[in-house]
Amino acid sequence: MMERQKIGREKKMKIGIIYGSMLGSTQSMSQKIADIFGKTEHEVNVSNVQNVQPKIMLDYDVILLGCSTWGDGVLQDDFISFEENMKEVDLSGKKAAVFGPGDSTYARFCEAVDILDEKLIKCGAEIIHESLKIDGDVESQMDKVKDWTEGVMKKL
Ligand SMILES: Cc1cc2nc3c(=O)[nH]c(=O)nc-3n(C[C@H](O)[C@H](O)[C@H](O)COP(=O)(O)O)c2cc1C
Repeated sequence: MMERQKIGREKKMKIGIIYGSMLGSTQSMSQKIADIFGKTEHEVNVSNVQNVQPKIMLDYDVILLGCSTWGDGVLQDDFISFEENMKEVDLSGKKAAVFGPGDSTYARFCEAVDILDEKLIKCGAEIIHESLKIDGDVESQMDKVKDWTEGVMKKL
């Protein structure tokens, strides 16, 4: 009986992680998140935004977008056209969350994360967890990435 309840609660989901990264920080975060989901019953797929179109998001139950901030609060280069073209997809019924690294010495700290959060909402997705913003070196803050991923998992 206990076992049946457990299976019912933990529905297998398709998780799509799509990231844009210039120097590798967002890529590392993506890999960490994927490794954690990889140990669960869920199916996880990681894509560099360079190689995909927004319609790929329709393949997933859960969409996790990762993007660093450049310029003065601008999306990582490869994400710019992807974000523009997101208007073409209806993400109603999809669960989503956003993560990214940044540097709080810049005026617009992790603005890319906020831009994508808003865009996902405009496309009809449900934001299931507060976004993750890592300030500074990512490798030494992987515990935060782990905690966030576990938080997302609890909302599925
Ligand atoms: C020229 C330049 C501009 C940046 N602008 C911002 C910014 O506006 N806001 C912010 O939070 N971080 C900013 N950053 C910090 C980057 O987002 C940070 O280094 C991040 O880890 C890069 O991740 P990536 O290697 O995945 O691209 C900037 C960094 C550089 C070198």
